[in-house]
Order: sequence, then structure tokens, then C-alpha cells
Amino acid sequence: MSNPSPIKVVDGTTKNPHAIFIPIPLQGHLIPSVALTMKLASNGFTITFINTQVIHHSIMKSSSTPNDDIFEKARESGLDIRYTTVSDGLPISFDRSLNQEQFEECVFHVFSAHVDELVGNLVKGDPSISCLIADSCHVWPSMISKKYKLVNISFWTESALVLNLYYHWDLLKKNGHYTTCDDVIDYIPGIKSIKPKDLTSYLQATNTNTVSNRIMYKALFEDAKHADIVICNTIQELEPRTLLMLNKTQPFYAIGPLFHNKFTQSLVSTNLWSELECSHWLDKKAPKSVLYVSFGSYAHINKHDLGEIAYGLLQSGVSFVWALRPGMVSSNEPDALPLGFEDQTKDQGLIVPWCNQKAVISHASIGGFLTHCGWNSILESIWCELPLICFPLYTDQFTNRKLVVDDWKTGVNLCERNLVERAEVAKNIKYLMMGETSNELRLNTKKLKRTLEDALAVGGSSQRNFDKFLGEVNVKIDQMKGAI
Ligand code: UDX
Repeated sequence: MSNPSPIKVVDGTTKNPHAIFIPIPLQGHLIPSVALTMKLASNGFTITFINTQVIHHSIMKSSSTPNDDIFEKARESGLDIRYTTVSDGLPISFDRSLNQEQFEECVFHVFSAHVDELVGNLVKGDPSISCLIADSCHVWPSMISKKYKLVNISFWTESALVLNLYYHWDLLKKNGHYTTCDDVIDYIPGIKSIKPKDLTSYLQATNTNTVSNRIMYKALFEDAKHADIVICNTIQELEPRTLLMLNKTQPFYAIGPLFHNKFTQSLVSTNLWSELECSHWLDKKAPKSVLYVSFGSYAHINKHDLGEIAYGLLQSGVSFVWALRPGMVSSNEPDALPLGFEDQTKDQGLIVPWCNQKAVISHASIGGFLTHCGWNSILESIWCELPLICFPLYTDQFTNRKLVVDDWKTGVNLCERNLVERAEVAKNIKYLMMGETSNELRLNTKKLKRTLEDALAVGGSSQRNFDKFLGEVNVKIDQMKGAI
């Protein structure tokens, strides 16, 4: 990696802003946060990156070469990235996945006190710190940035459509669409129309007082709107109407897709589980003959649906790699697959707890992806020109499914009704993987890949937006200094 270039400002001087970066302590947020950190540091930023202690511990446990400072190699390559950890308020050994509610209550009420203390100490020790970059899902960035006089930069890791829905939570409530009504929603600025079933899980919840809902409301309906700048891991050409709308209310920059410099490899460890190698197995398979299956790092699936998907795979006869993380059903139930399934499919499939997903889906033998529609997985699959079978489970994944299946036409639904049945699963897998049936989907995916490449190229929308963002940061820093 070349040495970072300092940011040029209008009067010809150069500045290197110093930002504290605090991601959401979940795998799907950590990965794009590290990619953004590397991009910012390559463009002259100094970053102090803060992981929670439990996330740091999991990365160490899963790494074959554990290193107390996950950015050491990045620093050796010339980037100014510092690293530290903070407590989320719970002991490291506490099972956050099994006790999700307790964990989230702690994130809601306790985490900010630890962040406050650490940011205070960092700022006191280093007056060059001028910005706070925090994941938009945190409930405290406006409070912390105001207290320490930092430019408040909100990082939204998901689609612009999803953020725009949260921004209009009040309209959904007012029109009775929050949890109940079935009519099409056509009154949200920047969104032509969307069905209630395509809202995020929080916006469809019948119990609106869960801790998850309270967090999302506070973070996304209230706090993120106070950010000085929002940067978003999307692409202008994929969501033009929504982004036009969001740009009217806040400096908002679509700079995605955020990948590592080398798509399949990173200088920084981010895995919370140990990767298993799949390439030897894949090398023996014909081009585009293998379906990759993964439901991400966070959502749970019920045992019935998991069983039907397993038998659907078996019935389809299609080769598969299934990254099935431990605790996918529950951390109380490590062996969730139907009894004997692994034996029955030992010649058809490879089941691993975790893999290097980007490396696996880049392999020539992979021809499709059965996904839960996590936003990272969607961007990565477009990059690898893979059509999708969609099975959304939680949070933004329902809305992402709409984009993939209804708008971009790069994927199909796993099952048309809510019920997951093995015969339909097998039929759709064969449709996606065999013959010419899915040619149109593949063609559309190819076009989207080109859109992503163009956006990242010199003069492309994401590159231009990134440059504008750099300029805006300096303006905000100067304004902040002027106000002090
Ligand atoms: C969560 C949400 O569910 C998702 O919808 C949101 O957009 C981000 O936070 P997650 O469920 O983990 O993320 O899904 P996804 O966004 O797809 O992120 C998973 C990441 O883990 C991807 O970058 C993927 O490449 C990586 N991964 C997954 C692996 O490296 N190995 C695996 O075996 C599985």
C-alpha cells in the first residue's frame, strides 16, 4: 500500500484530520467499518479505532496469528491507525447471543458511559482529535460529539432506502403503517412505493416497546439526524431517488461499496469465528456449479426452516458450500441440522462454521448464493456477479430483499409464502443454478457489477462523493474550531 496522501484544502495547505472511529460491535458492522478506516487512513486521516473488549477477544480467539493490535500490519504499511478497546458494560464471558435482550439493554443504557470516559481521556491526551465517526446505530454520538466538540460523522453501513424509512418513522406511525395496515406505502419522500412486508423487522414489529425497537428509534429516528455528515455504504446509481431526498436534509455521501483493497484479503483481522478453508474442495468442481449458502453473522433461524432448507438442498442435487455458524438456531443448540444430514450430503456439499466468504464467492465454481440478504453479502455478491436466492430473517434484510428481487431483478425469493417447504426450496435452487433459466438474473447482476466498478473508478460517483466528503470534513472542522 502506498503512503497516505494528505488532504488538500483550498488555500493550498494540507490537513490530516484525526478521527475516533467507533463501530457497532457486530460482525456485519465491523467489516465495512474497518474497510472505511483503511480508506480514510489511505487518504490522510489519522484514525483511533475502538473495538469493544468482547469483540477484540473474539477476533483474537479466531485468529491463527493473534495480535493485540489488529491494525499493526496496516500501520507497517504506512497508515496512521491507532487501536484501543472499551467495555460494553458486560463481562467478556457473557453470552450476548443467548441473552440478547440483556445485552441490548446494556448497549442502550451502559455502553455510552464507557465510551464517554474513553473519548474524554483520548481527547484530553491528544488535542489533534477533531472528529467522531460512529456507526449510525449508536444512540449516543450527538451527545458525545457535542460534549467533546468533535465533528459528528455518522457511518450508515446499510442501504440508503433503509435509513430513509427510519428517518420517517413518524410518518409510518401517523399513517398506521407501523405494525398494522397492509396498504402500499407511497407517502415517504424519496420512496416511490413500498409494501409493509418490505419494511425492516423493527418497523413491522407488533411489540413496539422491545429494547431493539427503542434503540433503533433513538439512534435512527432521533440521533443520526443531528450528525454533521452521513457517509453511507451504498452507490448513488443503485438508489438515486432516495439519495436525492436524503441529500436535501443533511450532507449525505454514498461512497460504497466499501471493500478491502484486495477484495478477498485484508491486512486487518475482523473475523469473530475461525475461517475454514474451502478452496481445495471448490477446485474440484465445475465452473458455476456450486451454490454458496450463508445467513450471516447475527440473525437466528428456526429449526423447522433450517431443516426444510437442508432437505431442499439435498433434493435439488446441487453442490453446495454452507457456512453455518455455531448458534445459528441458538447457542443452546449447536447441532441444529437434521440428524444424518451431513452424512447424506458428504459427496454433495461442504458444511463449515465460517469461511472467507469473499474468497469463496469469488471462486469460479460458485454459481449462486442463497442468502439472508445482509447488506454486505448483497454488495459482495454483486461484485462477484452472483444471482441470489433470498431468505430474509431480520432487521434490514426484508427491505434488501425488495431491492434485489423486485427492483434490480438479480434474485428470486426462496419461498413465495411465509412457509418454508423443501420442495419449493429445491425447485428454486434448481431454477437458479441449472440451465438457462436464470440468464436474465445473471445479466442484470453483471450490469450492476459494472455500475459498482464505474462508481469506484476515477471520476465515478463514489469517488467524487468521497472527495466531496473530505472537503466537507475540513469545512466542519474549521467551523467547530471557530465556535470554540
Ligand atoms: C448484519 C445485518 O444482518 C445486515 O443485514 C446488515 O446489513 C449488517 O449487519 P450480517 O447478518 O452478518 O450483518 O450480514 P452481512 O451484512 O451479509 O455481513 C456478513 C459479513 O460476514 C459479510 O461481509 C461476509 O463476507 C462475512 N462472512 C459471512 C464471512 O466472512 N464468512 C462467513 O462464513 C459468513
